[in-house]
Amino acid sequence: MDETKPRIAVFISGGGTNLQSLIDAARRGELSAEIALVVSSRRDAFGLQRAERENIESLVFKSKKFPSLEDAGRDLVVKLQERRIDYIALAGYMKLLPLAVVRAFPRRVVNIHPALLPKYGGKGMYGHHVHEAVLASGDRESGPTVHLVDEIYDHGEVLEQAQVPVLPDDTPDTLAARVLEQEHRLYPRVLQKLIRGEYALD
Ligand code: GRF
Repeated sequence: MDETKPRIAVFISGGGTNLQSLIDAARRGELSAEIALVVSSRRDAFGLQRAERENIESLVFKSKKFPSLEDAGRDLVVKLQERRIDYIALAGYMKLLPLAVVRAFPRRVVNIHPALLPKYGGKGMYGHHVHEAVLASGDRESGPTVHLVDEIYDHGEVLEQAQVPVLPDDTPDTLAARVLEQEHRLYPRVLQKLIRGEYALD
């Protein structure tokens, strides 16, 4: 464990390819942080196997086990503080992050979304729904957005985006793959800049 590096908790619900890109960037020294914890909303998320393979501590966190979302939030904040987490990176996390967590980590929670926000964000806009909506719109560009997480879904300040073309014969799957490739480049880069204080405060 490197005591000097900021500690990131990555929140997942699925495959965790973005988690892997953060782990790999940290190993290469392109992200000066330790991926110290993986939090999953699902016990069967493949990303948990990635954590195990890399010897990263993981937790399955289910807010439904608590009397209220507020109680769940308080418990999660304690767990994060006990592990001296500095930043939270949501990477395919499909649950609403309890407000207590957002408040305990001001400007230190980020999310990656597979479209150019503010378009194609908000309720119901996840996974293939996003790419289907982009294709239906006739837009000729898409790409990932990394944004700060505040108290409103898909709303916080946009830190960076990357553009990819939407091609005439794209399906939701081909477009998703092109966007995902850019996600893997963008997310470590943005986290590195955030940690270095390169984004001006609002
Ligand atoms: C990514 O497309 C991300 O933008 C979205 O969920 C997906 C997660 O993929 N929030 P993975 O689990 O990192 O492979």
